[in-house]
Amino acid sequence: MNATSLKSRIQKHLPGWITPLAKSVWSNVATLSCFASDYGSFRRFYGKPSRRDRDVDRANLIKTYHVIEKGLSLQTPRPNFGRDVRERLFVYLTTYIHRWGHDQTTRIALNVLESYCQFSEACGFPMEVERDRMEQLQMHGDAAHGCEIAGGTVDLTSESAQRDGTTDFLRMAQARHSLRNFQDKAIDPALIRRAVEIATHAPSACNRQAWHVYAFSDPAKKQAIMQAQGGSRGFGESAATLLVVASDLRCFSGPNERHQAWVDGSLFSMSLLYALQYLGLGTCPLNCAFYPWEEEKFRKLTGIPRYEPLIMVIAIGHMPRQFKVTVSTRRSVDEVLVLDTPIETAQTFPSVRKT
Ligand SMILES: Cc1cc2nc3c(=O)[nH]c(=O)nc-3n(C[C@H](O)[C@H](O)[C@H](O)COP(=O)(O)O)c2cc1C
Repeated sequence: MNATSLKSRIQKHLPGWITPLAKSVWSNVATLSCFASDYGSFRRFYGKPSRRDRDVDRANLIKTYHVIEKGLSLQTPRPNFGRDVRERLFVYLTTYIHRWGHDQTTRIALNVLESYCQFSEACGFPMEVERDRMEQLQMHGDAAHGCEIAGGTVDLTSESAQRDGTTDFLRMAQARHSLRNFQDKAIDPALIRRAVEIATHAPSACNRQAWHVYAFSDPAKKQAIMQAQGGSRGFGESAATLLVVASDLRCFSGPNERHQAWVDGSLFSMSLLYALQYLGLGTCPLNCAFYPWEEEKFRKLTGIPRYEPLIMVIAIGHMPRQFKVTVSTRRSVDEVLVLDTPIETAQTFPSVRKT
């Protein structure tokens, strides 16, 4: 006798109210367990200022210089704007360079400060003190002179932005489908690298880019991951590679940012799906909807650390010559778009609407 028929036999002999009650208890316990696990991860890992960690320091640095970049990109930046941010940037930059030395991030930060100085000087504010401090920071460790990595702003035209941004997007968006049938052919790792490089153009909160992509092509590993993920039965084995997108919780600095890792990670994932499609590969996003104990198992298999929330798995492979995809009908625009929400409607949103 299998487990399902045993279950239905037992259920037959129980009073009718037991099953709904048991389901309700289980649902509450599981929900609490999921929230407790998320709370624990967040408390443990979010980017506390006291944490001495390169990734956290880098995220703070980027977040801070990005405020200045944003200020400089305004139509008419306020002369001498953001003095407190500038000071904070000097503090973070000094700490970072002393702890970790120069790298791409410190060079970009210095370039942003350079752009800021040029702007302020053009507005008539002397920047000698700031330039001295920058000079000293540049001299510390590996010099950052002559760096080609940009920071600050770039000038574009609407013509180039529109041309580059719209050429093929409509057709691409309409042509993307989840593929559940792949060619038996390995993927050149250079193609995956290229896709990830394209996806890194995704936006992220204060440009912190906390995402990571883990790629698995070994058949035994893939098999184990698919089993743990559970949503690719019947087609997962044909995928040449499984990608797992994760996002570093430590790059986010307080409870108000508790969802940011998922938001940024999802935006990145969507870009990655398009990038893979653009490069001619088929993709199928797969959920990471785990209970804490399932998640633990998945982490053991993949080696992804606890401080990186799992955003999604993406099964990828070359497309067969012919294949079927689901229609996956979309809701109408009228159901999705709420234009100029009337105030009365907005006020009723918090209450649960009974249908
Ligand atoms: C976060 C996420 C999780 C998904 N999980 C699965 C999954 O576990 N198994 C699967 O076959 N498809 C999965 N999908 C694919 C969806 O079923 C698919 O995107 C949807 O039906 C729309 O179809 P389309 O992607 O072909 O446009 C997932 C998609 C997303 C965005």
